[in-house]
Amino acid sequence: MKKLIEQTNSPSVTRLLVASNNGGKIREIRALLNGVDVVCPDDLNLNLEVEETGSTFVANAALKAHAFASETGLIALADDSGLQVDALDGAPGVFSARYGGRGLDDVGRYRLLLEHMEAFPDPKQRSARFCCTLFAAAPDGRTCQAEGTCEGRIAHAPSGQHGFGYDPIFFLPEHDCTMAELAAQQKNALSHRAKALEAVYPALQKTFPELAL
Ligand code: IMP
Repeated sequence: MKKLIEQTNSPSVTRLLVASNNGGKIREIRALLNGVDVVCPDDLNLNLEVEETGSTFVANAALKAHAFASETGLIALADDSGLQVDALDGAPGVFSARYGGRGLDDVGRYRLLLEHMEAFPDPKQRSARFCCTLFAAAPDGRTCQAEGTCEGRIAHAPSGQHGFGYDPIFFLPEHDCTMAELAAQQKNALSHRAKALEAVYPALQKTFPELAL
């Protein structure tokens, strides 16, 4: 399935593939990379599931970026991210998408997490952070990466309709609301993903000049 798409009208400019099947992540990365020629697996009719066998965000992001790059012949940008809760020794962490098993959806997962947090009612016991590693890989082996985090705490009940995943239970004390109560633009000004993207951008420019960022 090499070279799935035309590389745009200009032979020197290459499209960037977002190596994810998560609609929430794709939406945010597209908005954050506003103006960049970004494609996602759906645009290519590409159905590729990469098993996340790594024990760290960076290991899993690297697995996904290399798999999508070698499958498509494009530069692929993968996001591996998750929620670390201090009272739960960092869980769900790299297992955030699989917390409670494959049968649960986003709501089922954050409900389960709220249950596990009932033993920790004091706000001081409920500190947590979102972590994001962005890892870009080209089919020829070039790579770059960066990380971003966003500190907060686990709310006692879900609130808000925006975002995805654990956003409704992630409380931001400085904003006195959950991540899901922020509009997309507000989340994209402070999120772990936004910070990782800001950090990786200069490396993307340097490592992949053909992206013309
Ligand atoms: P993975 O990177 O595919 O392993 O999945 C990361 C999981 O972490 C997502 O499925 C969400 O459950 C959670 N997650 C990552 N980033 C966010 C975010 O910005 N908001 C809410 N949940 C997130």
